[in-house]
Amino acid sequence: MVSGYGKLQIINGVDIELNKGELVTIIGPNGSGKSTLVKTIIGLVPSWSGKIIINEKLDITGMKPYDIVTKQVPINYVPQVNNVFPTLTIEENLLLGALPRKKDPKEKIQEDMEKIFEIFPRLKERLSQKAALLSGGERQMLALGRALMSNPDILILDEPTAALAPVLADEIFNKIIELKKLGLSILLVEQRATRALKISDRGYVLVSGKVAFEDKAENLINNEKVGELYLGKR
Ligand SMILES: Nc1ncnc2c1ncn2[C@@H]1O[C@H](COP(=O)(O)OP(=O)(O)OP(=O)(O)O)[C@@H](O)[C@H]1O
Ligand SMILES: [Mg+2]
Repeated sequence: MVSGYGKLQIINGVDIELNKGELVTIIGPNGSGKSTLVKTIIGLVPSWSGKIIINEKLDITGMKPYDIVTKQVPINYVPQVNNVFPTLTIEENLLLGALPRKKDPKEKIQEDMEKIFEIFPRLKERLSQKAALLSGGERQMLALGRALMSNPDILILDEPTAALAPVLADEIFNKIIELKKLGLSILLVEQRATRALKISDRGYVLVSGKVAFEDKAENLINNEKVGELYLGKR
C-alpha cells in the first residue's frame, strides 16, 4: 500500500495481513506512519496504490469511511484522539456506534449493549453521564464499546493506552485480550511496544512508512536489533 497527504508520500509500499482471530500489533517510532496506515485501511486517507481486502474477497479499496459504515463492512476503528463525543452521554455514544445497523431491531442492539457492559461494567454505572466527565481510561473503554456496537469482526485500535497511567494501560490490555477471546480480529497500534507484543500473535515494525521487521510477536521481542532500536532494550 502507498498513501500520504496531498503530494507527501508517507506509506511507502506496506504489505500487512491480519488473519481471522489474530491480534497483530504495529509498533514504530513517532511519525513513522502508523496512524496514517490504519487511516488508509479505513478510508480516512486515500490509498494511492495497493488493495485492502477483507475476508479474502471483499475489496474495500477506495471506500470512504461513510461507505464502510453504510455498507456495514464488519470493520471498525478507534482513533488515537477524539474518539468519543464529549458532550453526549455514555449511552448516546454507544447508540451512535450502532447507527449503521438500521435493519437490526432495538432489542438486539440493547442485547449487544448489555454484552458490552459485561466487558466494561463501569460504563453501565455511568450511562447517563456526559462522556466529558469520564477519566482517560474510562474514555478509552467507551471508545472501544462504541466501536463494538457496530458488531465488527475486525477492530483497529490506534494507541488505546496513550496518555494512560500504567495501571490503566494494563486494564485496557486485559480488555483487548478479552475481545480477542470473543473471536475478534484485532489490529493494534501501540507505543507500549513490548507490552503490546506480549499479548499479540504477530507484529510489524513500521519505520519511515516501510515495514522494517515482521515476525511472530515472540520473535520480535527476542530480536536483538528490534529490542535495541524499538523496545528500549540495551
Ligand atoms: N493530516 C496530515 N497532513 C500532512 N501530514 C500529516 C498529516 N497527518 C500526519 N502527517 C505526517 O505523516 C507522518 C506520519 O504521521 P502518523 O501520524 O501516521 O505517525 P505515527 O506513526 O502514527 O506517529 P505517532 O506515534 O506519533 O502517533 C508524520 O510526518 C506526520 O507529520
Ligand atoms: Mg499515531
